[in-house]
Order: sequence, then structure tokens, then C-alpha cells
Amino acid sequence: MAELFEQLNFETNYLYERIIDDILEQGYCMVDELFSTKVVEALRADLLQKYQDDQFKKAAIGNRTNEVIKAGIRGDFILWMDENLQDYAQKLFFDEINNLVNYLNRTCFLGIFRKEFHYALYPIGKFYKRHLDTFQNDDRRKLSLVCYLNEDDWQPEDGGELVLYLNIDNKEVPKTIYPFPGRTVIFESQLLEHEVKPAIRERLSITGWLKTH
Ligand code: OGA
Ligand code: MN
Repeated sequence: MAELFEQLNFETNYLYERIIDDILEQGYCMVDELFSTKVVEALRADLLQKYQDDQFKKAAIGNRTNEVIKAGIRGDFILWMDENLQDYAQKLFFDEINNLVNYLNRTCFLGIFRKEFHYALYPIGKFYKRHLDTFQNDDRRKLSLVCYLNEDDWQPEDGGELVLYLNIDNKEVPKTIYPFPGRTVIFESQLLEHEVKPAIRERLSITGWLKTH
């Protein structure tokens, strides 16, 4: 049996265990050590390069077949990431995501078989009004993951907070999270309403979803 476990590589990962515990207990988790500084810097450079190269487009509301652009709801620009592009920075990102997904599937039987991630850039003053990350007739999104790629000197006064509207003992409790570089937030896509506040600097991130199919 021990040999089988070894073959399956069933080694406890304490960071992943904390992520799982937090999601189960409070509906979300916030971790600052999932992505190293090196990875965050590579991703930030990749995002900025591709933004300068005009590869981003205005983000829409709805799913890919039913999109509308509504600046009054969200004002960010996005670029879908592609795991198969062999892009160095994105490969580092997906290596880490795949390790996490494999662990979740092994320990929580979540059945995550698909994922989708995009870079996002919010110009100064732009925001994303309170929303839920699921669409009508689409319950495939299980977990939402956001990783911030902001500059190292990002301050709380710069704004751009993520506000999660938690439900504690049937009472709504807003939880404010500052988008410091490398910080990662994971939450249940179908349960947690949230919003992005405007910032006084360009706000950089990766947002994505772990899906069942
Ligand atoms: C989203 C979103 C949160 C953030 O893109 O759906 O809610 O903090 N992003 O960027
Ligand atoms: Mn969202």
C-alpha cells in the first residue's frame, strides 16, 4: 500500500491543505505564497508586452457565445491565456495551476477537467461591479482564481480592492482584499458575489476558472 501511495505521489502539501480548508470553511482563500516572485515578474512582463502589442480586447459580460460590452459594469481589457503556446511565463503559471488542480482532484474529488484563464488590465478608474462568476445555464465554473500582477510598490491607497460579499450566519459581511503582487484568491464561483473597486493606477491580474467540463 505504501508503495502504491508512493507511486501515486500522495504527499501532503500543507499550502494546498490550507487552501482547501479555507475554501471549505469560509468559501474563499487568500494566499500570498502560491506563485514565486520570479513567476509573478515573468507574468507581469508578459502581460504588459502583450498589452502594448495590442493583443487585449475590451472585456464583455456573458459567455463566449453571448457577449455584450457594458462599460458601466466592467471596464477591463482581457487576453485569454493559452497553455499550449509554449510561452515561458504562461508555462510557469500553468505548471503551478496543474499541480494544484491535480491535488484538488485527488483529495477533494472535485472533478476539475477544464480550466480557462485570462490576463486582465484595468485602466485607471475602471472597475467591475458586483457580480457572480456564473452565467445562466452554465454551472461548469466551480472555482474562481485571481492572481494579482501589480507593481511591487502597490499601496492600499491605490485602490483596486476586491470585495467579497461573504455570508456569515445569514448576514452579509464584505471582505476587502488588496491586490498586492503575487496574492492569489480562490473562491466558489457559484456562491460568492464580489466586485472590483476602481484604482488610481493600472491594475494587473490573471483571472480564471476551474471547471468540471
Ligand atoms: C472577474 C473578477 C476579480 C479581481 O474577472 O470576474 O471578479 O479581483 N475579478 O480582479
Ligand atoms: Mn468575477
